[in-house]
Amino acid sequence: MKFDVITNNVLEKETDCLVLALTEEASQQEGLFKSLDQALEGYLSKALENGQFSTKQKEVSIIHTFGKIAAKRVMLVGLGKQEKVDFEVLREVTARIVNDAVKAKCKDIVVNFLSASSLGTTSVQMGHAFAEGTTLASYKFDGYQKEKEEHKVLDVAALVAAEGEQAQLEEGIHTGVAFAKGTNLARDFVNMPANYLTPTVFAKAAAEVAERYGMEVEVLERSDMEKLGMGAMLGVAQGSANPPKLVVIKYQGRDTWDNVISYVGKGITFDTGGISIKPAAGMEAMVMDMGGAAAVIGAMDAIGRIKPKVNILAVVPMVENMPDGAAYRPGDVLTSMSGRTIEVISTDAEGRLILADAITYAKTLGADYIVDLATLTGAVLVALGTKTTAAMTNNKEWVSNVLQSANDSGELMWELPTFDVYREQYKSRIADLKNTGGRHAGTITAGMFLGEFAEETPWVHLDIAGTAWQDKNSDLTPTGATGVMVRTLTRLALNKQ
Ligand code: BES
Ligand code: MN
Ligand code: ZN
Repeated sequence: MKFDVITNNVLEKETDCLVLALTEEASQQEGLFKSLDQALEGYLSKALENGQFSTKQKEVSIIHTFGKIAAKRVMLVGLGKQEKVDFEVLREVTARIVNDAVKAKCKDIVVNFLSASSLGTTSVQMGHAFAEGTTLASYKFDGYQKEKEEHKVLDVAALVAAEGEQAQLEEGIHTGVAFAKGTNLARDFVNMPANYLTPTVFAKAAAEVAERYGMEVEVLERSDMEKLGMGAMLGVAQGSANPPKLVVIKYQGRDTWDNVISYVGKGITFDTGGISIKPAAGMEAMVMDMGGAAAVIGAMDAIGRIKPKVNILAVVPMVENMPDGAAYRPGDVLTSMSGRTIEVISTDAEGRLILADAITYAKTLGADYIVDLATLTGAVLVALGTKTTAAMTNNKEWVSNVLQSANDSGELMWELPTFDVYREQYKSRIADLKNTGGRHAGTITAGMFLGEFAEETPWVHLDIAGTAWQDKNSDLTPTGATGVMVRTLTRLALNKQ
């Protein structure tokens, strides 16, 4: 799919579908609507008058032009109330346009929004929303069917520029494509079944992303982890025939390797629960348990495309959590890389074990700020549902940066507390910590457990167990992996330049 910006006479542009977005208060007496209406002999204004078209948000009508203009079809789409139109609305409306155009068998579209300033946004943002909305809506996971059904996407999506706006729209499009391609890459990883995406395959794919953009990459093997004393990570890895990997990617966008932001992502390629085995019903959903890792790799892809002037250190532990004769057991005591010992109460609380060592490792590699991401707890679904990611922190300023970036990219996030009183819940009788904190406040105790390993380093934990997957189609996201947090992480990198 290609993007284009159009500056010349739109009525003469040959296209399968000319799209005109209208707010509820848009005047029909001026601009493209008027000239289109004239060319179509008053059809548009009549249809609007008698209610055949509506300008309510995301309402769509398509008409044929019978050769009266160069475009084969005209699509009218509602933007809703003008004062409510923002980046997010443009992204959503774009996704609806693209989905409906593809359904109507269009191969290319030319989209005309109102001027960015009258929509309360900037031209850069408009280009971004358009490219991101289009690219996210065009995503489909290539399945494993013997006979593949064709995945129809547009060949060209063009945006009409107002006078002097072209360069900004193009800049926005470039950024939007990067955000969305990174997100779609994360979606692919999360959608892949565990027999296709083993830690070995995942690590190789992650290394390829890094190499594509000339980033430094290292993949630690089991023997390296043994030398580093990553006992918590190795404990989880013990029961799987697929060896663990730990991928480290360095993106240096500044002259010196300082102010290092580290993204740490949980990469459990499949979570059976281990010896504390999960119930059979629904266990297949645990292919998504590497959603944090996927978000980090997806963000590195986007960052590689945009090249912001920041330093990013990605640390991604990849392991399969399996029951086996060699598997770790409830009651085992593991010694983490930090030296802290951990009593295993449940082998199903494995995410915090691999992340404990990954966070410690990130610190030894010079992380000045940390964001960890994990499909960590079922409890977060009870607390916040499937739309909102939970955030926790040891540093108000750092979390405000992350919350702002989430807000800038249209991803919902809410902070949970880290009051000291919760620490009691994960104190162990025989070790420094235990890996579960009981039924109450499960998301908080899991997050605070990780905070113990972040120590004084500014740290934010994001629990994406509720948001990494969705069970039904929406305009921007088909059923399955959402690619959540790629955009927030990428935006954070841009905001911290
Ligand atoms: N991977 C799961 C959490 C999860 C649940 C992710 C639902 C996505 C959807 C995690 O490893 C886990 O099993 N957590 C346990 C922790 C418990 C044993 C303390 C949980 O949430 O039940
Ligand atoms: Mn688990
Ligand atoms: Zn898990």
